[in-house]
Amino acid sequence: MSKKLRIFVTGGAGYIGSHVVKALGEKGYDVLTCDNLSTGNEWAVLCGKLIIGDLADKDALSKAIQDFRPDVVMHFAASIVVPESVKDPLKYYRNNTVNTINLLDVMKEGAVSRFIFSSTAAVYGIPENIPVSEDAPMNPINPYGTSKMMTELFLKDIAFANSDFRYVSLRYFNVAGADAQSRIGQAYKESTHLITRALKTAKREFDKLQIFGTDYPTPDGTCIRDYIHVDDLAEAHLLALQYLTDGGKSNVFNCGYGHGYSVREVVDAAKKVTGIDFNVEEIGRRQGDPHALVADSSKIKQRLNWHPKYDDLEYIIKTAWEWEKINPVANPR
Ligand code: UFG
Repeated sequence: MSKKLRIFVTGGAGYIGSHVVKALGEKGYDVLTCDNLSTGNEWAVLCGKLIIGDLADKDALSKAIQDFRPDVVMHFAASIVVPESVKDPLKYYRNNTVNTINLLDVMKEGAVSRFIFSSTAAVYGIPENIPVSEDAPMNPINPYGTSKMMTELFLKDIAFANSDFRYVSLRYFNVAGADAQSRIGQAYKESTHLITRALKTAKREFDKLQIFGTDYPTPDGTCIRDYIHVDDLAEAHLLALQYLTDGGKSNVFNCGYGHGYSVREVVDAAKKVTGIDFNVEEIGRRQGDPHALVADSSKIKQRLNWHPKYDDLEYIIKTAWEWEKINPVANPR
């Protein structure tokens, strides 16, 4: 790298953001994380500096951008829990949509015109075809997905209005796993994600794992998801960054491996990896869950030359388990 690029990372103290900050730091980028620590942790920021701030505070955000003068903004800060978004949609439109407008406004004021956005497979809703490709229609079935889709629509319009502005939206499928050295991992104590809940159940933080719905149109009746290791996702961000700095035009990429596992398969793998047989209860469907979400990831592999290294469910669960055993914010009921 001839010039040390400056990267401003919102939500860099959170689960995915902290793994990307780590990867950026290892590659020698100059990183400034901005995080309100609502779900993130100061100790998770392994590289660069951290400022504690909220995207709702536009003046503070503007000052941070003016002082740091980033070349690129990576935007992770968001609320991410699908069932919570169904119960409290306004929280999602405020945190994910309104706050992103603040960030884009402040970037415009500071003439920052490169943006990498954490989008989600939830924008597809119930896709007609599996695996789903980037040109499938966006048709979210929960407010979380809608809040992210709205940002994708803004970005398209902003890029149309301003030819200097270029962005990449990365649509994440189900991100799991942790740093191989167990320095960071999923540390939000209210986490509702399947792998984390299964491991917390193995640890006896919960007395049982509930499976939400066994009557879906899938081979074993439970939902299918494409689980991707967080370090492979971090690598996708570095490639997207390189793509934008090399002059690549605004684009959207799926981030998944291209094959999925059912909830039952994940539960069995969690029991195998941990060697612990925990209680499982099958109950009714959870609101807002599509039956299957699997990425067509050929575009990111071809265009960004992404070669995932950890496409192995047991490895993903193993790294998450090693982390979960020492997770400092684990909070037994
Ligand atoms: N599930 C259970 N029991 C649990 C937790 C989850 O059966 O205790 C099931 C869910 O019903 C779903 C599957 O496991 O069928 C995966 O659920 P998660 O809560 O782990 O993840 P989601 O698929 O709901 O959402 C995640 C991210 C979103 C992202 C989406 C993309 O949270 O940000 O993956 O696929 F959009």
